[in-house]
Amino acid sequence: MLRCGVDIYYEKIEENIMKAAILGYGTVGSGVAEVLTANSELICRNAHETVEIKYILDLRDFPGDVHEDKIIHDFETIVNDPEIGIVCETMGGDNPAYTFTKRCLEAGKSVCTSNKEVVANHGPELIQIARENNCGYYFEASVGGGIPIIRVINDCLTTDRILSLAGILNGTTNYILTKMAKEGADFEAVLKQAQELGYAEKNPEADVEGHDACRKIAILASLVTGKNVDFKSLNCTGITKISSRDFMYAKKLGRSIKLLATADFSKDGLIAGVSPYMLPAEHPLNGIDGVFNAVFVHSEMLDDTMYYGRGAGKLPTATAVVSDVVCATKLAKCPESINWEADDAKLADFGQVERQFFVRVKESDGSESNVKAFFGDVDHLVIDGVNDEFGFVTSKMTEAKFEELRAKMPGILNFVRLDG
Ligand code: HSE
Repeated sequence: MLRCGVDIYYEKIEENIMKAAILGYGTVGSGVAEVLTANSELICRNAHETVEIKYILDLRDFPGDVHEDKIIHDFETIVNDPEIGIVCETMGGDNPAYTFTKRCLEAGKSVCTSNKEVVANHGPELIQIARENNCGYYFEASVGGGIPIIRVINDCLTTDRILSLAGILNGTTNYILTKMAKEGADFEAVLKQAQELGYAEKNPEADVEGHDACRKIAILASLVTGKNVDFKSLNCTGITKISSRDFMYAKKLGRSIKLLATADFSKDGLIAGVSPYMLPAEHPLNGIDGVFNAVFVHSEMLDDTMYYGRGAGKLPTATAVVSDVVCATKLAKCPESINWEADDAKLADFGQVERQFFVRVKESDGSESNVKAFFGDVDHLVIDGVNDEFGFVTSKMTEAKFEELRAKMPGILNFVRLDG
């Protein structure tokens, strides 16, 4: 076993050993084992205690693996072992991850997770169980992978009122949109390429339909409001309808197209959701490309801050899980209590949000005079000479009004919200 011995003080604290278990030895779980092993001295110095992996739970065996001797197949061994103080849940999916988490917390073991599904579905319940059992439920890795953002909201920005959040919170879709923008390729072709390269899942629905980003913004919005934001109640549009045509118009307008997860906090309530947006060149999230994620936070006193980095991947995500392990070890006697109650957060009316919209129309169905008849004066009329279609940008109007006009006007091929 590696022990740290930085100075006399640390020689003393190394005598304390925190025993940990990892649930799931896949991409993130094996990353957690790697970070805990490779950085054990640093972790000991920061956690004020040696952290040692005792068990790794997986259905598979891993002959020849450096942690082969720790692999077990029975969860009961972990939950019934009083020596285990921390469990890293890196299984993914709702169940059995949720049941295992609950049982660990009920047994007084802190849980550190990367599992955004479990956090978004059961966050307040699990935090409450942790509170009742004097342990902690930590989930830094559930949003933005390796980017510190949960701790930023829970600890660093606690003296300021957060007014809005806007994030690129899904690496798969950002990779696809970046490729489409740079290569003029279509969605289906880039998705296929992303799957071949292992960036996109075989079943990419949660990513491309925006559900993954929606879960993540719901987690962040819950932490900001202290109440529960149910991701299922948010407005969510993915990127499946975005085509190379939309990018052509975006370019003409000097804009990029990004899938943003947004949350605006006002006294009337929360407006949050996920949607593709056309962003102007000067927008801080405009330059976030490829698999990278970023979160832009606007708060009252501090003004604007932005957090950028790798939102997925083995070691970046594992680093965030292990930062929670350090926290859970340091705070073992007085676990962090997270501000996220089960009551629903107050939502404001999404229909009353005002913005501009880019609209693409089939010329044969919707002539330019139709645009005027339905939408009145428009900001830009962008004529595309190549095909039988054209695009325009509406004046500022509410979501409800736009929806009403969109349903009435014939020939609309697609629309994209402006600005975010
Ligand atoms: N599928 C997710 C993404 C993984 O592409 O961002 C990280 O949550």
